[in-house]
Amino acid sequence: ELSFIHRIKPATEPGKPPILLLHGTGGNEDDLLSLGGMIAPGSALLSPRGKVLEGGMPRFFRRLREGIFDEEDVRRRAQELADFIAQARESYNLAAPIAVGFSNGANIAAAVLQLRPEALAGAALLRAMVPLQDPPAVDLTGKPVLIVSGASDPIVPAENAKRLTSLLTGAGAVVQHHVLPTGHGLSQTDVALTKAWIDQL
Ligand code: MLT
Repeated sequence: ELSFIHRIKPATEPGKPPILLLHGTGGNEDDLLSLGGMIAPGSALLSPRGKVLEGGMPRFFRRLREGIFDEEDVRRRAQELADFIAQARESYNLAAPIAVGFSNGANIAAAVLQLRPEALAGAALLRAMVPLQDPPAVDLTGKPVLIVSGASDPIVPAENAKRLTSLLTGAGAVVQHHVLPTGHGLSQTDVALTKAWIDQL
């Protein structure tokens, strides 16, 4: 029995990297499956549902309020998600996945990179923030990371997204950061950028 409610869509083409889909606040395991099919056709898709509920809305960790995180919970939940990834890899015979996370899902993916880097082969972080103010030192040498921010995102300050980019770059990750003329919601450009980034991995 795996530790998260999830969907799994087996690969239809060999050699494509598995994708770990991580939804935003109020989403669920079904939300990003069609996005996954667009950005990574042929890849296995693994899509867990966040276990934390905020007024009935699933998330991947607790927050005190918007943008202020319960960092003890971030750490615990990142460990729990990394354990799930390991279990799922064994059950479904998957290589280390590329995380594709939106909003809260991007934030937990960033925390997994900082706390359990071996769990992910890389990550596309759509509208991500810095998840931990005081992260442990980590070696992300060569790990591919895409960060796509919105210039007028009311939830993620531009400075915060830049700080995440430099934290991950400083740890050795190969980071591409794009800032789109948009807000917190995803656009067609996010889809196109993420697909192109996955294609060149
Ligand atoms: C978070 O709580 O992770 C961020 O505020 C993004 C979101 O609204 O989920």
